[in-house]
Amino acid sequence: MALARGILAAVSSVARQSEGKLGFAQRAFASTTSVNGIPVEVHNESGSKRVIVTKTLPGDRWLQYLINADCRVEVCKHPDIILSNATIKKLMGNKCDGVIGQLTEDWGSELFEALKQAGGKAYSNYAVGYNNVKVDEATKRGLPVGNTPGVLTETTAELAAALTFAAARRVVEADVFMRAGRYQGWLPDLFVGNLLQNKTVGIIGAGRIGAAYARMMVEGHKMNLVYYDPYPNKHLEEYIKLYGELLRHRGEPPVACKRVETVEEVLKEADVVSLHCNLDASTRHLMNASRLNMMKKNAVLVNAARGPCIDEAALVAHLKANPDFRCGLDVFEDEPAMKPGLADCPNAVIVPHIASASLWTRSGMATLAAANVAGILSGYPVWNKIDILPFVEKPMPAVPRAAPSIVNAKELKLKMVAE
Ligand SMILES: NC(=O)c1ccc[n+]([C@@H]2O[C@H](COP(=O)([O-])OP(=O)(O)OC[C@H]3O[C@@H](n4cnc5c(N)ncnc54)[C@H](O)[C@@H]3O)[C@@H](O)[C@H]2O)c1
Repeated sequence: MALARGILAAVSSVARQSEGKLGFAQRAFASTTSVNGIPVEVHNESGSKRVIVTKTLPGDRWLQYLINADCRVEVCKHPDIILSNATIKKLMGNKCDGVIGQLTEDWGSELFEALKQAGGKAYSNYAVGYNNVKVDEATKRGLPVGNTPGVLTETTAELAAALTFAAARRVVEADVFMRAGRYQGWLPDLFVGNLLQNKTVGIIGAGRIGAAYARMMVEGHKMNLVYYDPYPNKHLEEYIKLYGELLRHRGEPPVACKRVETVEEVLKEADVVSLHCNLDASTRHLMNASRLNMMKKNAVLVNAARGPCIDEAALVAHLKANPDFRCGLDVFEDEPAMKPGLADCPNAVIVPHIASASLWTRSGMATLAAANVAGILSGYPVWNKIDILPFVEKPMPAVPRAAPSIVNAKELKLKMVAE
């Protein structure tokens, strides 16, 4: 029986999902309707719990989690890329059990209060980072907040590596040149860039993504590593030490790994610096004019962490003053805007926050976000273990009966899965 929500307008059509992209091909029938004037796609109409998903998500597995938890799932089809709080409140209406939201949305007191008033019991961000979420506002209202760790690491590290090479080897400049029909023949000095083999890669923040990126650069290109992180990454250090021994054993020069006490030491020594720290007060404008000036004149700076880690106006000035300095940016200080002048710098490679955009990762994120909401609505304990792959890869009947990652589980004293 369809739920008597009092907020649904007439069902306007029934559509078979056959986009054939982003893994949607197998999706079952869904209907479309509107909620307070906002178009939504409805799955499992007769589900007893109502879950709002603010954007279309890739894959199908995520939907299975929610359907198995007896949820009616309403996916917002509003044309705005970034939904306003007013739109999200309309979507939640006066009866909403859970929401999967996006990092572009402002999940603070206003939205959590509306979710609480609608009888909500769970929220999950569709992201590992949750700087768009005021977790204490959710905790205050007894609302668990989920995130999606463990499936972004390699994909994000690969994009950081792609930006590194694109910047060092001037790939985008050269592509623009070709498309403009300006290539008239091979020349010894055409788009000469930097060789990275055996040079030094610097990491600021050697957590999951920083360490994965470091291994790609060290193993793949025999680069030495210098890193700054308030906490040592012993696993990474040990890994590189063993790799260095393997190289030595084979008669090749070994690689080295060094943790230093300051950001400045990394900047002075490294040929490439990649940022992989979280965004907080200690890392906002971590890269400012004076620190940029400490880097080598022909160094490469990569940011696939968060935009405000770099003072972007200072970076534009630095790029203009130092044409051999290059950067690769996935994230921007005032996203989606860029600081004036950045788009005119040929020595900047700029992409629209696509670091986690592999199909495996984006579907995995959807699965974890849905499993968070479904797990809480089903009264399951919280997993909060590092290995979340069972949720993403095990056959559905064998998936853990748990909510994979709830960031305020301790504060809310939620039951945890026994170790
Ligand atoms: N561009 C994207 O699409 C994308 C995708 C995933 C993650 N991210 C961002 O990447 C960042 C890293 O993600 P992760 O999964 O590796 O997180 P993580 O928590 O595993 O690693 C972050 C590391 O930063 C370190 N750190 C904290 N403060 C620091 C400081 N002041 N200076 C240097 N290091 C500091 C921490 O000790 C930790 O080791 C997150 O902020 C996340 O928001 C971006």
